[in-house]
Amino acid sequence: MVFFLPVLLLTGWAHPSFANDTLPVYTDGGGHPVSSPYDYQRAGPNGPLLLQDFHLIDTLSHFVRERIPERVVHAKGSGAHGYFEVTRDITNITMAAPFSDGVGTKVPLTMRFSTVAGEAGSPDTNRDPRGFAIKMRTSKGIWDWVFNNTPVFFIRDPTKFPLFIHSQKRDPQTNLRNPTIQWDYWSQNQEAIYQVMILFSNRGTPASWAQMHGWSGHTYKWVTATGDWHYVKVKVIADAGLNNLNATEAKNLISSNLDYNTQELQGRIAAGNFPSWTVAVQTMTPAESLKWKYDVNDMTKIWPEAEYPLLEIGKIVLNKNPDNWFAEIEQLAFSPANMPFGAEPSNDPVLQARLFAYSDTARHRLGPNHEQIPVNCPLAVDNYQRAGWMRVDGGAGTLPPGAANYPSSFEAPVSFTPRPYNLSAIADPKQSSGYGSDVLQTFPPGFRAAERSIQHGIH
Ligand code: HEM
Repeated sequence: MVFFLPVLLLTGWAHPSFANDTLPVYTDGGGHPVSSPYDYQRAGPNGPLLLQDFHLIDTLSHFVRERIPERVVHAKGSGAHGYFEVTRDITNITMAAPFSDGVGTKVPLTMRFSTVAGEAGSPDTNRDPRGFAIKMRTSKGIWDWVFNNTPVFFIRDPTKFPLFIHSQKRDPQTNLRNPTIQWDYWSQNQEAIYQVMILFSNRGTPASWAQMHGWSGHTYKWVTATGDWHYVKVKVIADAGLNNLNATEAKNLISSNLDYNTQELQGRIAAGNFPSWTVAVQTMTPAESLKWKYDVNDMTKIWPEAEYPLLEIGKIVLNKNPDNWFAEIEQLAFSPANMPFGAEPSNDPVLQARLFAYSDTARHRLGPNHEQIPVNCPLAVDNYQRAGWMRVDGGAGTLPPGAANYPSSFEAPVSFTPRPYNLSAIADPKQSSGYGSDVLQTFPPGFRAAERSIQHGIH
């Protein structure tokens, strides 16, 4: 029998002689000092590695778990921090914070810009709509504006989203992008035409994220403290104006700098040339919506600004690059369902589907406690949610850890706020007749009838 003597090998790395005793001590994940990050243990000078070598195993096993799933869409992007400032009293349109907190109120925000179809490492200047997502931390909870840089969208039927995205992403057989499939989808689903025309203009290749506008696309319902409500669309207007690349410029940048827009945004902010936007809304009363020539919830249509003028309500400024990109940008999780009282979803079926899909994907991508990650965390949160993967706040927000985990008869650790208006009172004034009467679509025989039946709830 041969006995190996465990040998701690130093790999010839010379420890730099830092004179400063105040430097933190290098440790393994358990906090135990380790003499060098390059250390490993062998059974004898040339023998196999040892299972007891926690430092090596800890290093490797953490490294191989460094990746989290990339976003299923909008995987490539970056962002920065800043603030939203209320510039107009619009309490006649909404009771939502930050507007209800008064003109001049500033709330911290984080924005993320992205392409849609490409993977996490894909080029910034690919032809694609740009995601334009804004997380505002208001006094009444998170308000996420998960917008694009286009006023309209490709679809108005929620079931089409995964199928449409499949047609734009890689072919399942070849793993190549397939222009035939991309165009076949658009040829079959012609409500996408407005968005396709924008996409194939130079707006499909913005030169700078600071020089593009953002739109809600969807209609929302904004409600006042007295229960009056309007349909609202939001537009975020770049103060620096639009600046787009032509097709040749975009193509050249794809081969010379994959991260062009990311670098450009970070460079601007580092130089103190802070990007800013003016926020404006278009409003439509329920009575006006009855006369509107399209379905008020159809996001393939705009409301012309000449008919529904823009009203300026706020300002956005980005003034801080992330200190840690993974913590502050990759772990961001936006959801259109994040709205304070005074902002309500419309009946747009695409928006309704999104209310579900974003928190659902965040639970998969980041875990059930993703709202505790500092960049996603509201200014205040108190509820009865408990435990689960990676719970790090000891319980439910700021409730004491020993507080009853239900509304008990002997302890009231939280107070309750009734919704200040009745949801039935802001119901749409008419039932939608469904989409499509103004758009030619070519489907295989029988498909169109089936689709419309489903929309009308017959199946
Ligand atoms: C049924 C329709 C839609 C579905 C199911 C859907 C789903 C998703 C999902 C699953 C993500 C990844 C989120 C994450 O991993 O954190 C995402 C990202 C995003 N979506 Fe959508 N989406 C839809 C329509 C739209 C529309 C209409 C817009 C714009 C008006 C939009 C804007 C965005 C943006 C900006 C992001 C990136 C968010 C970020 O920066 O983290 N999406 N979407």
